[in-house]
This record gives sequence, C-alpha cells and structure tokens, in this order.
Amino acid sequence: MTQLGRHSRPFRVRCTDPVSNPEFNPYLRRYEEFGSPVVLSREAANACGRWGQVFAQEQPVHLEIGSGNGFFLAGIAQVHPEWNVLGVEIRYKRIVTAAKKIRAFGVEDNARITRYDAWWLDEVFAAGELSGIYLNHPDPWPKEKHQRNRLLCPFFAEWAARTLKPGSEMRLKTDSLLNLRQLEAAIMDQPFEIVAQVEDIGRNGVPWPADEEITTNFQRKFQNMGLPVHGMVLRR
Ligand SMILES: C[S@@+](CC[C@H](N)C(=O)[O-])C[C@H]1O[C@@H](n2cnc3c(N)ncnc32)[C@H](O)[C@@H]1O
Repeated sequence: MTQLGRHSRPFRVRCTDPVSNPEFNPYLRRYEEFGSPVVLSREAANACGRWGQVFAQEQPVHLEIGSGNGFFLAGIAQVHPEWNVLGVEIRYKRIVTAAKKIRAFGVEDNARITRYDAWWLDEVFAAGELSGIYLNHPDPWPKEKHQRNRLLCPFFAEWAARTLKPGSEMRLKTDSLLNLRQLEAAIMDQPFEIVAQVEDIGRNGVPWPADEEITTNFQRKFQNMGLPVHGMVLRR
C-alpha cells in the first residue's frame, strides 16, 4: 500500500459484515442469509489469492466494479462460462437483486456477487489475480467538493495495473465524459495502453466483441434520453 493511496481514499464504507438489524435496512438480513452466489465481505477478504476456490471450478477471474442490479454480471457470465465473474457492490438491495439475477440466468457456477468498498479492493485480490476489469457507469461525482470520491484516480489505476494480468483488459462504459477523461489521466504513469475509445457506442458501435455488449440499467436510462454512452478499452 502506498502512502499516496492511504491518503487519497475517502472515508471507508463499513465492509465488515454487520450484526443483522433489519430495521436499519431490510435487505441486510437477506444479504446475510442469501447464501451462494452472495460472498459475504469477510469471505471476500479471506479469498485473496484463491478466488478460484470460491467458484465451482478454477478459471480466470473477471471483476465488475459497481454491479448495480447485476445485468452485466449475469449476462457476461452467461456469454463466458469459461470465466469466473465476480461483481462488487456496496448497496445491500442491489446485491440481493444481482444475486437473484445470477440464479435466474442459471450462472451460479461462474458468477458471484460480494459486498466490498471499491476503494479497498487491494485487500481482496493478490497481484496478477484478475483477467479483466469492467466499470459500467461508475458514479462520476461531478461537483468539485466531491472530487475525493472519484474512484477513477491514480491510486485506482495503480491498483488495477498491479492486479490485472499483463495482456488483460480494463473496460469502461460511461455516460460521463468526466469519468472517461479521469481514467485517461489516471493511467498516464501506469503500464496501460488505450486500445480503443468510442464517443458514442450507440452511433459508433462498441469497442469490444458484440456478444460482450450487455446493456446495463444506467446505460438504458441514458440511451433512452438520447444521450451518448462512451466506451474505452485499456490493455495492461
Ligand atoms: C451509477 S451506478 C451503475 C450501476 C450499474 N453498473 C449500471 O451500469 O447500471 C453505480 C454503482 O456503483 C455502486 N458503488 C458506488 N460506490 C461504490 C463503492 N465504493 N464500492 C462498490 N460499489 C459502489 C453503487 O451502489 C451503484 O450500484
């Protein structure tokens, strides 16, 4: 962990598994009791360096950060049964929804969802443990006073470079030009190459294989409003 990293993270979202308090959040108990494909936070921390054992079989692990309702997570796991796909999400309700989607899509063998704060993923993965990272509409935090919350920063880029296997990809899909420009700037000192960038995937097509284009909730909202969705592919 670099000093810069420690200082540049925002206040930590609690990721130790809480004692159930359904009055606080009715989805908390459902998260705790769901069972597989939900991986509890404490199990995620213990899986560092051995994620293969958390899935039905050991295969390359791909990570989606901020999975929301799980459309992409379950969809990409269906397209790629030869991958293990893990989603990370912070909100209990969305974790439960994503877990149900994994079951509905029949991808319980190779898809999992866990609750972890994306700023602390260095606790969860060993160097070179990931074969792909997917960022679908990460929160842009456009106000200057919230700048500290923007995940796509040099600290994140350094972590991603360390955790991705050389030759593997990190992909960003976003409605926010700010997100795109920030990731571009963040990777400047890291061993990433921009292999494709698309201004509007609706007009220009996607910069990844067509069967890997899975429309997410937020993507649908923005496209329904006639707004462009940008895409970028980086190679480690
Ligand atoms: C704008 S939504 C996008 C959801 C989904 N990827 C989509 O495209 O529909 C951002 C998601 O990231 C999650 N998120 C925000 N901050 C997070 C953090 N620090 N760690 C993990 N997930 C986070 C939010 O709860 C939310 O579900």
